[in-house]
Amino acid sequence: MSQNINAAITAVHGWAPETVLSNADLSKMVDTNDEWIRTRTGISERRILDKGVGTSHMVAEVIKGLCASRGIEPTEIDLVIVATVTPDMPFPSTANIASDLAGASNAWGFDLEAACSGFLFAMNTGAQFIKSGAHKRVCVVGGDKMSSIVDYTDRTTCVLFGDAAAGVFLEADTDGLGIQDAILRSDGSGRDYLYMKGGGSVNPATAETVAKKMHYIYQDGKPVFKAAVTSMADVSYEIMERNGLTADDISWLVPHQANMRIIDATARRMGITTEKVMINIEKYGNTTAATIPMCLYEWSKSLSRGENLILSAFGGGFTWGAIWLKWSLEKSSGQLS
Ligand code: UT7
Repeated sequence: MSQNINAAITAVHGWAPETVLSNADLSKMVDTNDEWIRTRTGISERRILDKGVGTSHMVAEVIKGLCASRGIEPTEIDLVIVATVTPDMPFPSTANIASDLAGASNAWGFDLEAACSGFLFAMNTGAQFIKSGAHKRVCVVGGDKMSSIVDYTDRTTCVLFGDAAAGVFLEADTDGLGIQDAILRSDGSGRDYLYMKGGGSVNPATAETVAKKMHYIYQDGKPVFKAAVTSMADVSYEIMERNGLTADDISWLVPHQANMRIIDATARRMGITTEKVMINIEKYGNTTAATIPMCLYEWSKSLSRGENLILSAFGGGFTWGAIWLKWSLEKSSGQLS
C-alpha cells in the first residue's frame, strides 16, 4: 500500500424528491406545530418519495449525476457502496439494483448499514479500495427513504425524517488532497434507544409484528440526544486535536443533520462559528445516510481546492465518527483542475 495515495472526492451529486411535506402539513396529521418543530429541531420541511418507488431510484439518479459531472460513463465505475437503513428489500442489495438502473454494469457493490453514520463508514471503506490501488473509481452514496419506515401517527418521530440521496466519486490523489484521517466508532449498547425491530431475523414480518408497529422507526429521543451531543462533539474535537488542527485551520464543519441543537453543540466544542457550518436541515430534515453528502453537494460550488473540512455524524447503534478531508475540486466549477 502506497503511503502517498489518498482517496479524494472527484465529483459530488445530490437528489431529493420534489414532494414537500411541511410542518403545517404535519400539524394536520398529528398533534404538533411549526413552532415546536422549528425550535426543537430546526426543521421546516422535508421531501417525500412516491409510494412504490425505492431508495435505489434516488441512488441511481445520484450515480447518473456523478457521471455527468465527472464526464464519464457509468460503465467506468469499479465499485458502488450504498449506505442505507432503507434498502429496497433485504436482498438483493440496493447497490446491486441501483447500479443496474444507472447502467454501472462493470461495478460490483454492496450496501453498508451504520444508520446516520452510514456515509462516513462507507466513505472510509471506499477509500481503502483507492488507497490500496485495487480500484480507480469508487462511488459512495448515502440514500434513505425514511418515509417508508416512519409512523405518521407518532409525533415524536414523524416530524424528524425525510427522503434523499447524495454521494461522491472517490479517486486517487497524490497531491496531498482528499481524506486525511478518519475516526469511526460503534457501541451496540445504545441499540435500545433507536431501532426498527421488525422485518429482521429476530422478528420476521407477521400479522403480529405489523399490528405491534414493529416495522416503524422507534426513538427514545432524550438519551439519543444526550449521546449525540457528547459523542459528535468529542469525536470532532478528537480528530482536530490528533492532527494539530485549530478552528482557524478548518473551513467547514459538515455535520449530520439530525437536530440544530446537536449541530450547535458540536460547532461550539470545536470553536467553530456558525458561518463555517453547513446547515440545510430546515429544507430536508434528517435524511439519515444522505445528510452529509447532500451538504457537500449544495456547498460544492463555493468550496476551494485545499480547504479543510471536518465531516461528523452520530446515529443508531450507536455509531459515530469524524473524517478530515482536504477538498479536491476547483472553486465555482465543481470540477477537477
Ligand atoms: O439522527 C440519528 C440520531 N438522532 C438524533 O440525534 C435525535 C436526537 N434527539 C432529538 O433530536 C430530540 O430528543 C427530539 C427532537 C427527538 C425531541 O426533542 P426534546 O427536546 O428531547 O423533546 P422531548 O422528547 O423531551 O419532548 C418534550 C415535550 C414532550 O411533552 P411533555 O412530556 O413535556 O408534555 C413531548 O411529548 O414535547 C412533546 N413533543 C412534541 N410536541 C409537539 C414531542 N414531539 C412533539 C412534536 N410536537 N412533534
